[in-house]
Amino acid sequence: MERLTVFVDALSRQGEHCIAIRLTPEEGKTLPAWEAGAHIDLHLANGLIRQYSLTGRPGGTDHYLICVKNERDSRGGSRYLHKELRLGQKMEISPPRNLFPLAPADSFLLIAGGIGLTPLLAMAEELERLKKPFELHYYVKQRSHVIFRERLGNNFAYGHCHIGSGREGISPRTTLPEGLTQPAAGRKLYVCGPETFMSHIRQAALDSGWQADDIHSESFHPLACNNIPCTQIESDFTVTLKSSGMSFNIPPHKTIAAVLQENGVEVPLSCEMGICGSCLTPVLEGKADHRDTVQTETEKTGDRQQITLCCSRSLTGNLVIDL
Ligand code: FES
Repeated sequence: MERLTVFVDALSRQGEHCIAIRLTPEEGKTLPAWEAGAHIDLHLANGLIRQYSLTGRPGGTDHYLICVKNERDSRGGSRYLHKELRLGQKMEISPPRNLFPLAPADSFLLIAGGIGLTPLLAMAEELERLKKPFELHYYVKQRSHVIFRERLGNNFAYGHCHIGSGREGISPRTTLPEGLTQPAAGRKLYVCGPETFMSHIRQAALDSGWQADDIHSESFHPLACNNIPCTQIESDFTVTLKSSGMSFNIPPHKTIAAVLQENGVEVPLSCEMGICGSCLTPVLEGKADHRDTVQTETEKTGDRQQITLCCSRSLTGNLVIDL
């Protein structure tokens, strides 16, 4: 997979628990342009690969900006970035990928929980540039957790930012935006934040009459049940490759990707948790048992199915995949 070399150009504290990391290219080079909603993979020196949404003004090619929360239950990525990362450090990243793009709409409702603000702030700034009406609702536990305070304080001509603080009695449980409970034709909803936050907002939207296709969300946390231990209750199935016609047995304790790699088949992998989309592969026959959080429900149930080889399984005895 293509990698880019970047340098840590600036580190700044954002709120009580986050740092913003500005990455610049090698001398004389530029970075690929990006769109709001895009993310990059960071290849960390400790061997981990982690995904982070880009924020800042979309399109820029002279630097990328990400924001990382110091997670108490870090799986190693945020701990490394908060404790080990140094100014000037060289890093490898992937080019930006956008699995959470802005779709055409008349207006936009953006709802962020905590660190989920990062892609949505980029969207707000892009919508302002496009002169599209939007509302950004940002929920935090307390105001000292607010990130990118200055940018949120911009006077947007086409949108409004609202910050809800749980300490002040405004949380998604107590106070939902009017725009959520009263859906309007031509409006899209974008949600980003912790899993429980997103499912709460999503359910409230569906209960209020939103169409599932108008609700977009992105998560960089795996589903609780998409790792190997969970597959111990699964049964075997086979995977057949279209290119060679070869079939492989996938036992309960192994992923499709692992079996294919053991047999010399190259599989593009990154997160290995169903959250980045690197390993998405078209399914030609059979029915996938989706365990990823990359695809929307519509994509998962549509006619042209794709499967994440790193974590998904099969509902049928055999799957023919386009590999
Ligand atoms: S490697 Fe990231 S979704 Fe499979």
